[in-house]
Amino acid sequence: MPLAPELVDGARVVLVQAPKGLEALREIAEVIAASAAPDVTVLVGGRVKHMTHAMNDVLGASFTDVSATLARQKSRVLVARGPRPGPSSFPRSQQHADLGLTVCAHGAAFAGTKIDIGTRTLLGSLERMAPGAGTALDLGAGTGVLATLLARTRPELTVLAADQSAAAVASAEATAAVNGLGDRIRVIRDDAAASIPDASVDLVVLNPPFHVGAAVVTTAADRLFAAAGRVLRPGGELWTVYNSALRYKPTLTRLVGPTTVVDRNPKFTVTVSTAR
Ligand SMILES: C[S@@+](CC[C@H](N)C(=O)[O-])C[C@H]1O[C@@H](n2cnc3c(N)ncnc32)[C@H](O)[C@@H]1O
Repeated sequence: MPLAPELVDGARVVLVQAPKGLEALREIAEVIAASAAPDVTVLVGGRVKHMTHAMNDVLGASFTDVSATLARQKSRVLVARGPRPGPSSFPRSQQHADLGLTVCAHGAAFAGTKIDIGTRTLLGSLERMAPGAGTALDLGAGTGVLATLLARTRPELTVLAADQSAAAVASAEATAAVNGLGDRIRVIRDDAAASIPDASVDLVVLNPPFHVGAAVVTTAADRLFAAAGRVLRPGGELWTVYNSALRYKPTLTRLVGPTTVVDRNPKFTVTVSTAR
């Protein structure tokens, strides 16, 4: 279920795996304080190395009583009681005048209301992508920056935005709507484009995940490259951006098709892969 009042309605005990970001924790705390039972006990568990005092402060904004248990092995639990219901701070929004874009973000969305520098690098190629394309997919859409700017700059495109994260989906919908493009972008919650038919899309844009939770993984990116290869029609294009140290080109060639480097600086590489 998405993070919404129904999730915690009347709950007296809520178990939370501590999220990585403080904004994600803040939204969780606000939703619980607003909708759980007045005598709710919230237990937020996490690895000691990922927990900070700022988490106590964030919980303290929504609960009167916050304490920490002693660490057990490498983990610890923060305990919050006494909900202080207040107005929701989410989605947050930020205007980016240089792009003429407002970005909306729920607490757990990648990059929040900012625009990631990898995403920015990929934006530089928007107009060159798959000329004549009719359907585009923003895979792992996050707050929907790529989907929204694609829809705006390429009025002929039908744009899909997909992400496995409920926070991302809600954020992308809000971003599309606030920029007046809600009717041009369909946002779906989906793991690796599983509900999108094979060979049905002309263009995929992807800024792949580099972290899953706190771990650095490349398998998450590989799964999305493979998904792009599956949903693209032959001749369709995957445009992606990645940290230049990662050397994804052979993987992209294997999972999608012939791959060309379009833009490269010491930090980021942009490639286009043409599906077989
Ligand atoms: C690096 S962020 C990019 C977000 C957005 N496209 C942007 O450029 O700001 C990667 C996104 O991929 C999503 N993601 C990770 N694994 C996924 C999966 N298996 N299926 C769909 N989305 C996934 C994450 O939730 C995250 O929003």
